[in-house]
Amino acid sequence: MNTIAIYPGTFDPITYGHLDIIVRATKMFNNIIIAIANNTKKKPIFSLKERIELTRKVTLHLKYVRKVLGFNDLLANLAKKERSKILIRGVRTILDFDYEVKLATINKKIYPELDSVFLLSSQEVSFISSSFVKEMALYKGNIKPYLPKEVHAALIKKLRQ
Ligand code: COA
Repeated sequence: MNTIAIYPGTFDPITYGHLDIIVRATKMFNNIIIAIANNTKKKPIFSLKERIELTRKVTLHLKYVRKVLGFNDLLANLAKKERSKILIRGVRTILDFDYEVKLATINKKIYPELDSVFLLSSQEVSFISSSFVKEMALYKGNIKPYLPKEVHAALIKKLRQ
């Protein structure tokens, strides 16, 4: 069965935390779309194009990741357009949960056929966030354990600019 599932986020940049969710999602769904929100309100340091390129590079080996795309729309509208009825979200701690419930509820109001599936982050990566990694990088902390090597190189280069 072809089950299209969308994994959305800002991915500024993609970390091992996101990859943990993606790899595990490929064991459940055979057509995964990674949807990267432009999300200018978060003031991303990587452009949308750069985030798409980096995410493509580090998911190239995953056969069930069929598409990596950028979007500047409501997530529920994108899901409808892509004919997906499943949203994948990672939940790291209880602190993520409240926000996720609100997001899932609003998305369902807009597109009632859409269901959110929550995956608990693996314990070893559950403390990672993109801002935490960027802040560490800014103060020259060791961020290698948290990022695929292409992303690590891109972040170091970006911060030098
Ligand atoms: N492991 C580690 N870190 C994770 C993670 C995981 N499994 N999952 C999320 N994170 C981190 C991210 O790095 C990010 O960290 P940061 O805030 O420090 O950058 C944080 O958790 C939240 O990230 P993310 O999952 O990317 O969510 P987001 O809040 O950036 O984006 C969207 C959420 C894109 C789904 C949401 O903004 C959206 O749907 N936008 C479109 C407009 C819309 O439809 N809005 C809702 C209706 S009004």
